[in-house]
Amino acid sequence: MWKYKLMLPVKRDVEPVSLGEGDTPLIPSKSHRRLFVKFEGANPTGSFKDRGMTLAVTIAKYIGARSVVVASTGNTSASAAAYAARAGLECLVYLPKGSVARGKLFQALLHGAKVVEVDGNFDEALEEVVARYVDKASGHVYPLNSVNPWRLEGQKTIAFEIYQQLGFVPDNVIVPVGNAGNIYAIWKGFRELREVGVTDRVPRMIGVQAEGASPVFKTWLAKADELVPVEGPYTVATAIKIGRPVNWLKALTAVRESKGFMLSVSDAMIVEALKTLARDEGIGVEPASAAPLAGYRVAVEQGLIGRDETTVLIATGHALKDPEVRF
Ligand code: F0G
Repeated sequence: MWKYKLMLPVKRDVEPVSLGEGDTPLIPSKSHRRLFVKFEGANPTGSFKDRGMTLAVTIAKYIGARSVVVASTGNTSASAAAYAARAGLECLVYLPKGSVARGKLFQALLHGAKVVEVDGNFDEALEEVVARYVDKASGHVYPLNSVNPWRLEGQKTIAFEIYQQLGFVPDNVIVPVGNAGNIYAIWKGFRELREVGVTDRVPRMIGVQAEGASPVFKTWLAKADELVPVEGPYTVATAIKIGRPVNWLKALTAVRESKGFMLSVSDAMIVEALKTLARDEGIGVEPASAAPLAGYRVAVEQGLIGRDETTVLIATGHALKDPEVRF
């Protein structure tokens, strides 16, 4: 990923804290000639979060922070714990009690993070981190949530890789939306490719949420100027079980500017898609990462996407993250 350093806003003397993230495979689907899966499960800790974390932890170290803190539905905490370990920083993670998939909690503990379980959902865990640490950053405890702009800067490299792997810009990129940063990050990446003159095309950005946790979808549908929050979100896809995503406006910006759209899919459709990816394609993902295929099916059925269009599904996390899914 650091091969794109020139496209990242970092000074030349900054020494990356890296585990070799990025360069994940773009796997062609067996069943549809123009459908591709960007398998982010192939990152060092098994999710796309490593792209943002390498950059954010690099900056934390560069400015002399001693510890990092993050609220998470799981993957961010696993990634933060690993990169903090690599950088020699302490790591503190706030997790919603009972809502984090087992593999992710295991990783956070394995890498030596201090885990605080919050009685509540992700939104409440994030509120606690923001109240305690954001804006009060003494420089010693550095907040790593996606309010942190470096995370999104790292994640935009997904767009650069898709362009290089395909050799052109796809028609559609479908992304699972939780706290709503990644869809914007990928959009920013494509926009920058256009700005520097690499291409004159950009893809439509399509966001998918789970029915029981779909505040961005609802806000998009209502054409509202304020977030339509979801209290008590629920879904089998715990990674995106979020009712008040902080980056909702960024996500809507990506969707609107790119002339894309939002979709919501049921848990049953997510599990069906998870099985198809695993059994027909050999690609093992966690539930949130199957949402784009579920969304693709809906969009094709409704005529929103043509089968002749090139579409990339962002498979955000590895199957081993969540070994307790029932299918
Ligand atoms: N897919 C997976 C596997 C995730 O872990 C997340 C987010 C998303 C999709 C959604 O990305 O938040 O940028 O819209 N996980 C965060 C976490 C919230 O704490 O690990 P987003």
